[in-house]
Amino acid sequence: MNDTFLRAARGQPTPYTPVWMMRQAGRYQPEYRKIRERYTLPDIVRQPEVAAEVTLLPIRQFGMDAAILFADITTPLYGMGFDLDIVEGRGPVIHNPIESADDVRRIHLFSAEAHTPFVLEAIRILKDELEVPLIGFAGAPFTLASYLVEGGPSRNFVRVKSFMYAEEEAWHLLMKALTNAMIEYLSAQARAGADALQVFDSWVGRLTRYDYERFVAPHMKRLFQGLAGLGAPVIHFGTQTMHLLASMAAAGGDVIGMDTTTPLDWARDRLGSRPVQGNLDPTLLFAPDAALERGIEAVLTANAGRPGHIFNLGHGILPGTPPDAVRKAVDWVHEKSEVPA
Ligand code: CP3
Repeated sequence: MNDTFLRAARGQPTPYTPVWMMRQAGRYQPEYRKIRERYTLPDIVRQPEVAAEVTLLPIRQFGMDAAILFADITTPLYGMGFDLDIVEGRGPVIHNPIESADDVRRIHLFSAEAHTPFVLEAIRILKDELEVPLIGFAGAPFTLASYLVEGGPSRNFVRVKSFMYAEEEAWHLLMKALTNAMIEYLSAQARAGADALQVFDSWVGRLTRYDYERFVAPHMKRLFQGLAGLGAPVIHFGTQTMHLLASMAAAGGDVIGMDTTTPLDWARDRLGSRPVQGNLDPTLLFAPDAALERGIEAVLTANAGRPGHIFNLGHGILPGTPPDAVRKAVDWVHEKSEVPA
């Protein structure tokens, strides 16, 4: 097995910088679009053979150093009693959003074996097929709560923040329920064979540090404590989180992931030896070769050869990304980071 990704996640030296890309399986691939003509996204996720096939597509084509299980952050929400659809070009839409403290009390207890057996089965299939580590993942409680309270994607997060400020007790109850569910979900993924776990707190960067500390951090601490001892390194990721770096790092995670708005060298200088993941601008995959090369070199230069760097984009691959640019980026990260023997 190619273990460069796991070595980097543990802060150990590697012969080159391992690379994978958030959303590496998806719409930018003609092969994925073909599968999507026949199945919806939840249909794919519920068929372990198909989900495993989609997970493998980018690994076989582009040679990333880690695979990420094909599922969605909304996958466990159905079992918790939420009725939702994923609307193309928009994102998850919740038909029974949380509007009151009573709605929070109605959330069902989540069981990975009962509600998402297909996810665990996809992991078992993949473990036989893969020669690189497999990353399991889940949404973080705040990011999940943002969809559940907003009823869908949001620009200003007015509903979720209003609920948080006005219904503080119910808010903490909601965060507790989501934290418990994600500990159960992620632990089950690790037990089924996931080699690493990523927690996506995609939208938490829209909170002030004060609000993060008050409304989110205690739950994140408990989440990471609940995942300790699984033997799988945990990546803690958010976007636009430069102001939260110290708070998020204190909450936990073996690896801190960041988008392009946090300079990687700045983060490394503040995180000591803690491994990091990131953070090439995903739009550089649309740029001429020279600009893409420069962008990759800039990220590697910011890391300055320190061990414990997992190369990634700052956020997911965008629809319309040329697959050829993904191939070039993976190759260039490997070539440009290679440590002379
Ligand atoms: O390759 C991978 O990274 C693994 C699969 C994966 C998906 N979603 C599949 C998917 C992962 C890791 C996710 C995580 C996810 N889902 C996040 C966190 C990461 C991030 O981007 O911040 C979030 C916020 C979601 C919620 C979600 N699901 C959104 C915003 C969308 C996009 C809606 C759109 O059409 O623009 C989805 C749908 C989704 N999840 C797609 C894929 C491949 C889109 C393609 C499709 O509809 O088939």
